[in-house]
Amino acid sequence: MAGKTDKIVVFDSGVGGISVLRELIKLMPGENFLYYGDSANAPYGDRATEDVRRLTLQNAQMLLGRGVKALVVACNTATSAAIDQLRQAYPDAIIVGIEPALKLAADRFPTGKIGIMATQVTLREEKLSQQLARFPNAQVVKIPAPGLVELIEAGRADAPETKALLQDILTPYIGKLDALVLGCTHYPFVKDAIAAILGRQTLLLDGGEGTARQTRRLLEQADLLNDGQGSVTVANSLGTPELLKLSYTLLDK
Ligand code: DGL
Repeated sequence: MAGKTDKIVVFDSGVGGISVLRELIKLMPGENFLYYGDSANAPYGDRATEDVRRLTLQNAQMLLGRGVKALVVACNTATSAAIDQLRQAYPDAIIVGIEPALKLAADRFPTGKIGIMATQVTLREEKLSQQLARFPNAQVVKIPAPGLVELIEAGRADAPETKALLQDILTPYIGKLDALVLGCTHYPFVKDAIAAILGRQTLLLDGGEGTARQTRRLLEQADLLNDGQGSVTVANSLGTPELLKLSYTLLDK
């Protein structure tokens, strides 16, 4: 049986899920969080779906167990490829998977032009098609961003080369989108650069806050919310000092 002081484990392919961890901490400061990034295997987004599924299940097996009350999959790619299999494998666990914030965008602009920027896996998977089918009146364009996750993993979110890459990717959409959904948890770390390119006419949305709210809802239903001191531990499959330093820098950003 899980207990209130048990940990909420937050998982991503790398450092991106820290953008979700920030929202979780904001909403539930009294909880004990363990963040785990699989940077040794990042990026997941260019891999075969089978591969992402295998890595996600392997990591979940390592992370779930005693002392854990919930798993937050803070990776859109892993959610697309493996959330159903995770729920089958752990039917009693509280598992929350982040999804692109398309509903937020479509509620705001039901017939509007909405961009979704995400990894190759997220853009091609069935999960996204199912989500899109719910908003038939919105005009949605899929925008891949190859190379962006690698730059963020390398601690180069604010580097000129990252701005140049974003400029290349987004220039065709300047003045053309009502909203842009950041469908990868790494992208909120370059939100300012994206906003500088697309300007005020494009609303930028991500699923971090919604995921945090859903996690709190499920914990509340299970009477597992904790109101303690709160703690955050960060771990990574690439346990280098640089990567751990980057993780804490992104957490404080
Ligand atoms: N952060 C992950 C996501 O939300 C993907 C990054 C990757 O390609 O590994 O989709």
